[in-house]
Amino acid sequence: MNLFLYSALGVSVLLIGGLLWRLSSNRHKLPCPSWLAWLVELDNPFAHAHKASSIIEALPIFDGIKILDIGCGPGRVALPLAQRIAEKNGWVTGLDIQHKMIEKTQAKAQVLGLTNIDFIHGALDTINLNKNTYDVVLMVCILGEIPENERVTALTSLADAVKPNGIVSITETIFDPHFQKTQTVVDLMKKVGFVQKKFIGNKGAYTLHFEKQKS
Ligand SMILES: C[S@@+](CC[C@H](N)C(=O)[O-])C[C@H]1O[C@@H](n2cnc3c(N)ncnc32)[C@H](O)[C@@H]1O
Repeated sequence: MNLFLYSALGVSVLLIGGLLWRLSSNRHKLPCPSWLAWLVELDNPFAHAHKASSIIEALPIFDGIKILDIGCGPGRVALPLAQRIAEKNGWVTGLDIQHKMIEKTQAKAQVLGLTNIDFIHGALDTINLNKNTYDVVLMVCILGEIPENERVTALTSLADAVKPNGIVSITETIFDPHFQKTQTVVDLMKKVGFVQKKFIGNKGAYTLHFEKQKS
């Protein structure tokens, strides 16, 4: 009985904590702390579209491809992606608001002997990214961590950084407290000039691909 009560209490604390975090993130920058990196790195078997391998498999890979991983965190996607595109002379840049996350990924990249990855420390909404630079931009479980009133500014900066025929790949999973529904993402991307090209997964865990609308 005690075990049941403690389990119920634990789950309630997690759910309430997650909800409060989500609500506060709508107004304030509260990125996933680096001590939770181990949790971010788990490939959830119940969210196939969120797996690093699924995200990478869905991308077009070609010679000299340049990819920006926004909110790269501990490198769950950025590192295998750099490995995958190394033979194509591809390059990955990881951007993160937290220096500690970048340090973790940098250390792992060194152990793996990767020479085609670099990092930018900063927030998407305030950083000046080079224009028309990236063929692919990834956003995996990060949109909901950007406060609501900063999202359009952040996505406009991203839109400028993507090459004219470039792709933005956005992945969300319901297991993330900052989960964003498909329609919310589609509407936001439309506002900054993107059209939906691909949908992979289901309502609870999906990847959406967007292409810049020709002006
Ligand atoms: C939930 S983690 C996801 C990490 C990684 N994309 C993955 O799926 O494994 C979100 C990451 O986004 C970063 N982040 C949050 N807000 C950001 C912002 N405004 N600009 C850049 N990075 C941000 C956090 O520091 C954190 O590392």
